[in-house]
Amino acid sequence: MKHKLFDNFRLGPVIMRNRMVMAPLTRSRATPDGLPTEMMALHYAQRSSTGLIISEGTVISPQGVAYPRVPGLYNDAQVRAWRKVTEAVHERGGLIFAQLWHVGRQSHSSVQPDGLPPFAPSPVAIENYLYNTRPEPLPYEVPRELTKVQIVEIVQQYADAAERAFDAGFDGVELHGANGYLIDQFLNSSSNRRSDQYGGPVTNRVRFLHQVLHAVAEKIPLNRVGVRLSPSSTWMDAEDPDKKALHSQVITSLNAFGLAYLHLVEPHIAGSTTSDAEMGAIPTADLAAQFDGVVISTGGHTRESAKQILEDGVADLIGFGRLFTSNPDLPARMEKRISLIQPDRKTFYAGREKGYIDYPTMEAEDKWRELKNHLTAVDEAILELEGRSLMDLDRSNELYSLFQLRKLASEAVLNY
Ligand code: PHB
Repeated sequence: MKHKLFDNFRLGPVIMRNRMVMAPLTRSRATPDGLPTEMMALHYAQRSSTGLIISEGTVISPQGVAYPRVPGLYNDAQVRAWRKVTEAVHERGGLIFAQLWHVGRQSHSSVQPDGLPPFAPSPVAIENYLYNTRPEPLPYEVPRELTKVQIVEIVQQYADAAERAFDAGFDGVELHGANGYLIDQFLNSSSNRRSDQYGGPVTNRVRFLHQVLHAVAEKIPLNRVGVRLSPSSTWMDAEDPDKKALHSQVITSLNAFGLAYLHLVEPHIAGSTTSDAEMGAIPTADLAAQFDGVVISTGGHTRESAKQILEDGVADLIGFGRLFTSNPDLPARMEKRISLIQPDRKTFYAGREKGYIDYPTMEAEDKWRELKNHLTAVDEAILELEGRSLMDLDRSNELYSLFQLRKLASEAVLNY
């Protein structure tokens, strides 16, 4: 019988064709102006057999960026360019949400429009990590503390980006509230030392997220909006004395909004990498029951763990990140238990087509194998003919046509 991982699922107003979600993955292939490219449209289209794609982090303003070549949703040119991506995904029957991102203190003066340190809830620098730039990683800077007026502006930028996402044809948006980025910086006490209504008790620290949701709700229905949180992660100094109590309160507070989903990052994930289990890890199983709606669990899942967590009723949907980099048809491969292609971290962020749009589907792999077999057969025939007597008059004609065949076959293998 078909496992429910591969069954349809109703997500608010839309139907997903299976319960698999392509998790957001930064791939740094946009233009320097934050425009999605044709290559990105192909990349996402290739992965559209999954139930839902969540786009790579897409910045809501030029101040919200940490690294070059990530896409944005803060101007009309970006909306036009994203349309090509969403159309390509929809043409193949897929669904795609835009992940809205502001990195706060994870940015650096070298990429800020005014060349000054980035903005954050409080002037507290990240100390235990380095800003990953060339030629040498650099220490993070003490960020500029956001004024209340600036906070209201950023809240509005989220809402405008959500509206643009809709204009661009996205089926919904996800607010990136995880991994020590701006929303998470408001939530955790290590990065939020404010004494106004945005700091202090959790009810105050969650105010920024709530205000963003209220502002977004003015533009698009909240049953098309998800929120992503990483309860366990202390990556980028996202520290709090009681992360479980913090997230428990945040998650409970989200019940009032009627969201499309809550997206939780499992322990063992530190930003974009796997880490050792930390003391006090908080798996989705510990928190999901407090959320009244749909829960996505993401982070290091295998086919087996995905099925288990669905059967246990802990989560409704399973996100896969890195496996989607190298297996465009991951749902079919998982359903048919076909071996998976291992991801190649070297191509995650750098470069162009290689490692991005050149991973084969199962069918392409089969075809390629067939062509290779054909090539081997031709080679064997050539060898046999070459062994025959020089007096054989047909030999040269046959050899000539076999060489022609070989050329065609090897071209086909190369081009595949
Ligand atoms: C990354 O670019 O490595 C990255 C981006 C967003 C995340 C985590 C990691 O949430």
